[in-house]
Amino acid sequence: MDNNKNWIDQRFPLTKVWNEHLAEYYTPRNFNFWYFFGSLAILVLVIQILTGVFLTMHFKPDAALAFASVEYIMRDVDWGWLIRYIHSTGASAFFVVIYLHMYRGMLYGSYKAPRELIWILGMVLYIALMAEAFMGYVLPWGQMSYWGAKVIINLFGSFPIVGELILEFILGDYAVGDPVLNRFFSLHVIAIPLILVILVFLHIVALHTVGSNNPDGVEIKQNKDANGIPKDGIPFHPYYSVKDIMGVVVFLMIFTSIVFFAPALGGYFLEAPNFVEANPLKTPDHIAPLWYLTPFYSVLRAIPPMFGSQLPGVLAMFAALLILIALPWLDRSKVKSIRYRSWPYKAALTIFVITFIVLGWLGMQAVTPLYSLMAQIFTALYFAFFILMPWFTSIGKTKPVPERTTEH
Ligand code: HEM
Repeated sequence: MDNNKNWIDQRFPLTKVWNEHLAEYYTPRNFNFWYFFGSLAILVLVIQILTGVFLTMHFKPDAALAFASVEYIMRDVDWGWLIRYIHSTGASAFFVVIYLHMYRGMLYGSYKAPRELIWILGMVLYIALMAEAFMGYVLPWGQMSYWGAKVIINLFGSFPIVGELILEFILGDYAVGDPVLNRFFSLHVIAIPLILVILVFLHIVALHTVGSNNPDGVEIKQNKDANGIPKDGIPFHPYYSVKDIMGVVVFLMIFTSIVFFAPALGGYFLEAPNFVEANPLKTPDHIAPLWYLTPFYSVLRAIPPMFGSQLPGVLAMFAALLILIALPWLDRSKVKSIRYRSWPYKAALTIFVITFIVLGWLGMQAVTPLYSLMAQIFTALYFAFFILMPWFTSIGKTKPVPERTTEH
C-alpha cells in the first residue's frame, strides 16, 4: 500500500492535497447545525448530475416528443419514475439547502472580509442555479414549462431598442418552440452543470485560502499554538467528514420520504398543470414559477408597467437579485456573528426573512388588488433592508467578541 502511495506521490500530489485540504486542514471546532448545508449542497449537485445523466439517456429534446418521452421514463423505463422523482425533488432540495446556506452566511457575517470572494462566487452559483432550474423545468414540455418559458423569456423583450433582438436570439424563432427547447436542453445538460462544478471548485479554493468563519465570528488563524496550528481548530478529517455524514443521513431520510411519499409535494415541487402537455392555444388560469423563484417573481409583478412596458418590473427583479452581491460592503458592523450584533441588525434580519417568505408566498398566488398592494409593500421592505443596512449596522450596542471560540 505504502509503495503504491509513494508511486503516486512521486507523480501526483495526492498526500499533499489530502493533508492540506482534509487531514491537516484546520477548521473551527464550534460548527453547529448551520454548517451542514455546504456539504449537503455538494451532495445534491452530485445527485442531480447522476440522475440527470440517466434521464438524458431516455429524454427526447424535441417539442413533438419531449412530453411523451418523460411519460415513457415514468411508465416504461426500469426505475425511470424513481430517477425522475429524485431529480425533480433534488431541484427543490437544492434551493432549500442553498437558502439555508445563504442564511447562515447572514447569521454569522460570513460574507464579511476576508470572505467577500466566497460570497460573490456563491452569488454567481446561485444565479447559475436559478438558470439551470428554470431551463430544466421547460424540458418536460408541460403546460407550465411552456407558459412559464413564455412569460420569463418575454421579459427580455421589454428592454428598449435591443429587446426584440434579444428575444429572437434566445428563441431562435418568433415564439417558444422547438429551437428554444433544444438550446435549453443543451445548456441544462452540459453548459451550466459544467459552470456549476467549476464555480463550486473556485468557491472551495477561496474558502480554503482564508479558512471558515464560525458561529462566534472569531478568526481562528489569529490564535495559533507553537506548531502554528490554530488553537480553536480541529482537522477537517476525520472530525467534520464524520459529522457531515450525519447531516447526509438526516437529509437523505427527509429527501427519500418526499421522493417516495409526496414527490409533487402538494404542487410545490411539481405543479399540476405540468402533467398536461404544452398547448400554445390554451393559457393556464394562473402562471407561476416554482417556489424558489417566486420571491423575485413577486418583485417583478409588484412594479406596474410604465408606458405599456414591463421594463421597470424587470429591472427591479434583477436589482433584487444582484443587490445581494453588495452585502459585504453594505454591512458596516464591526462584529460578524449574530451572537454579538446589536439589536437593530437582529430586528432587520428578522424582518428581512419574513419579507422574503411573504414575497415567495405572494408570487405563488393569483393577482388580486390586496396581494398587489402587499407585494409592493414587501418589495419596498426588501430593498429597504439593503439600502438602510449601512445605517442600521453602524448603530446600536454590540457585545464584545471573545478572543477564542465559545462552547454553546
Ligand atoms: C452549488 C452551490 C454551493 C455549494 C456546493 C457550496 C459549498 C460550500 C461549502 C462546502 C462550504 C464550506 C462548508 C460550509 O461552510 O457549509 C461553503 C461555504 C460558504 N459558502 Fe457556499 N456553496 C454553494 C453556494 C453558495 C451560495 C449561493 C452562497 C451565498 C451567496 C455561498 C456562500 C458561502 C459562504 C459565505 C461560505 C463560508 C461560510 C463560513 O465560513 O461561515 N455558497 N460553501
